[in-house]
Amino acid sequence: MSQCFSRFQQEASSGVARAGRFETSRGPVLTPAFMPVGTQGTVKGITPAQLADIGPQVILGNTYHLGLRPGDALVRDLGGLHRFMAWPGPILTDSGGFQVFSLSSLRRIKEEGVTFQSHIDGSTHFLSPERSLEIQRNLGSDIVMALDECPPGRLDRPGLELSMARTTRWLKRCRDFPLGERQGLFAINQGGVHLDLRTRHLGEILEIDAATPFQGFAVGGLSVGEPKEEMNALLADFVRLMPGDRPRYLMGVGTPEDLLFGIEHGVDLFDCVLPTREARHGTLLTSRGRVKIKNARHRDSDRPLDPECNCYTCRTFSRAYLHHLFRAGEMLASTLNSIHNLSYTVGLTRAARQALQEERFPEFARHTRDNWNQEEP
Ligand code: GUN
Ligand code: ZN
Repeated sequence: MSQCFSRFQQEASSGVARAGRFETSRGPVLTPAFMPVGTQGTVKGITPAQLADIGPQVILGNTYHLGLRPGDALVRDLGGLHRFMAWPGPILTDSGGFQVFSLSSLRRIKEEGVTFQSHIDGSTHFLSPERSLEIQRNLGSDIVMALDECPPGRLDRPGLELSMARTTRWLKRCRDFPLGERQGLFAINQGGVHLDLRTRHLGEILEIDAATPFQGFAVGGLSVGEPKEEMNALLADFVRLMPGDRPRYLMGVGTPEDLLFGIEHGVDLFDCVLPTREARHGTLLTSRGRVKIKNARHRDSDRPLDPECNCYTCRTFSRAYLHHLFRAGEMLASTLNSIHNLSYTVGLTRAARQALQEERFPEFARHTRDNWNQEEP
């Protein structure tokens, strides 16, 4: 266990839902927490000052993208990712497992690692457990993800079992890699929507963990094309089986509805591109449900986007102005929309945390869902 990381301390709970904290060398992480995605060393469309105002506990960076461009050695030589992007708080880097499978072409997977062609210029690259962790060490992230194989949502059981076994062997190699002193390693659980496969894979992870503990555990391989009900059924059964003394991270999820469901079932950390992507497309997540800002009914509306939201966008501008910016294709539309959607999503996890601490979480969850189901938000 790296010195700077504390174990997860549970501060409050409601059933299996919990509020807690763990420390990194760049400060505490208070959970539940939604982590905005900064794939290329920027949370798209907003500055670090705007991001700091939103107040996320952790942000994400991507090994796959930053390793290809501008290159991890360059980022290391310029003082690491925190300095490069001017974000002083905790950063988690994904290992590239998922991105190699979703973005690159002509993959060849062998025991040693994956050979793939860059989505940028078609050049050939190699990603192994050691190379992924070397990139993440050069970037200097606080939370490092192990390299996993992320199988497609509809892969059959035999295929999944082979893939899981490889992920376990790769995890052992990740465990043996010397990371920086300030870095902590998270293991990733796979197994599709099958509870027995998930449980078996967790057992393999915990065997490795017994010798040298991981700093956290992630659930990968969900929200990859499987039906939502199957994902939720798996989460409801599985998350509570994960160790309670480390953070539990649900990767690549999701919508406000997914976050609330995940929190109710014991998840501590989330990340997803959805809030920023939807923002750029003019879909705004609010306490009253989704608002499509290009809709004509907002054209002359002097109301704030979300009266319950205290973000810069909602404090300052009318729906009419946001509608105008979006229709006119102005850059500021993406910025203001992203500020709001991230504020809403980060704020949802922060409000859940507060409700847990104040022992009113079930009421909070009910109230939040009731409010989402408004006819015309
Ligand atoms: N992001 C979303 N899902 C996954 C996954 O299964 N593995 C990794 N490494 N990243 C992810
Ligand atoms: Zn807002």
